[in-house]
Amino acid sequence: MVNGGLEGVVVAETTTSYVNGQTGELWIRGVPVAEVAADGRFETALTRMVPEASFELGPARVAAHRALAPARGESGMVALRRAVAQLDDEADEDVLVATIAVAGAHWVGQRAGRPPMPPDPTLDHATDVLRMATGYADPVRGRAFGTYLATVIDHGMNASTFAARVVTSTGSDCTSAVLAALGALKGPLHGGAPGPVLDLLDAIGTPDRAEAVIAAELAAGRRLMGFGHRVYRVRDPRAAVLEGAVDALVQAGHTSPRLELARVVEPVAVARLAEHKPGRPLHANVEFFTAVLLDALGFDRAAFTPLFAMGRIGGWLAHIREQRADGRLIRPRATYVGPAAQAKPSTT
Ligand code: ACO
Repeated sequence: MVNGGLEGVVVAETTTSYVNGQTGELWIRGVPVAEVAADGRFETALTRMVPEASFELGPARVAAHRALAPARGESGMVALRRAVAQLDDEADEDVLVATIAVAGAHWVGQRAGRPPMPPDPTLDHATDVLRMATGYADPVRGRAFGTYLATVIDHGMNASTFAARVVTSTGSDCTSAVLAALGALKGPLHGGAPGPVLDLLDAIGTPDRAEAVIAAELAAGRRLMGFGHRVYRVRDPRAAVLEGAVDALVQAGHTSPRLELARVVEPVAVARLAEHKPGRPLHANVEFFTAVLLDALGFDRAAFTPLFAMGRIGGWLAHIREQRADGRLIRPRATYVGPAAQAKPSTT
């Protein structure tokens, strides 16, 4: 029997992240994700994820900025792919982190009509990337963005991580493995969910419409975006971290037009989903509050997947290292179901 999605197939041992879908736990190298993201600095999560590397994100950002001036793309993921493709085979890990961040930030800025902003090595990574992308940053917004990048840094054997490991398993180079991961993340089934969450919130519009719109969506056979998960049977632990980050923004005087609405929608959606699919627990996933947070930081839907890549690069690098150290060539098999080379002569 063919298992095309490889569900349940274990292809590696890892010390990067632990995901327990029943209890709603995500550990990053043995530490709960909420703790890893608590200081709002991507550097903290990155150093935890890839402790062997010495990240010098300030100077690397400067180097990447020079390398990236010609980077263009019709979509943000194409811009990232082009930027990474220009790098040497064995580009330093901090250059890869910086290249993805700076290419993404420039792409966002260019779409808004701003010329590329040079990096400011005095700022932490997330604050500076946010500044280059949106034109301004303050410590509160920088911390919220850093929380986001840290929260999505790794999550088990997801498709882009697996793609990076497959390429690495052939003995190929780190830049090629990251390109493969970017290609996997570009697909809508992996990196594309938070945009439709905003569509759902927009369709609801005001809290008093939540019950009616959710009932209508389910009656029409549509899925509620931002709810349900292949692994989690409880609320995704990342949802709480990201909700807290939006809350901190609002407490500090920033606005989040969709936070209040999201907080009304979530319990209504969970209750209606429980009636709709009894026996299948469906709760908010990471994308629900990712959408609310990135929207509050001033990003539009088109930027969401490149922003995800800016965080997930940390996990890719850790898995590439692990695969190099311990892994075998990943080479599964296929069952041939095509025509035979020669028709067998009939014996009758
Ligand atoms: N709204 C309504 N019904 C749902 C939802 C939802 N959000 N999620 C699952 N269901 C239903 C399905 O219709 C299915 O019912 P059926 O058995 O009658 O066909 C049942 O619950 C099980 O769903 P599956 O698709 O088999 O579960 P799977 O584990 O493959 O799905 C997924 C997980 C794809 C995330 C799903 O919950 C979904 O489509 N959610 C909405 C999209 C979304 O939020 N995606 C982001 C996920 S987070 C991430 O991937 C990083």
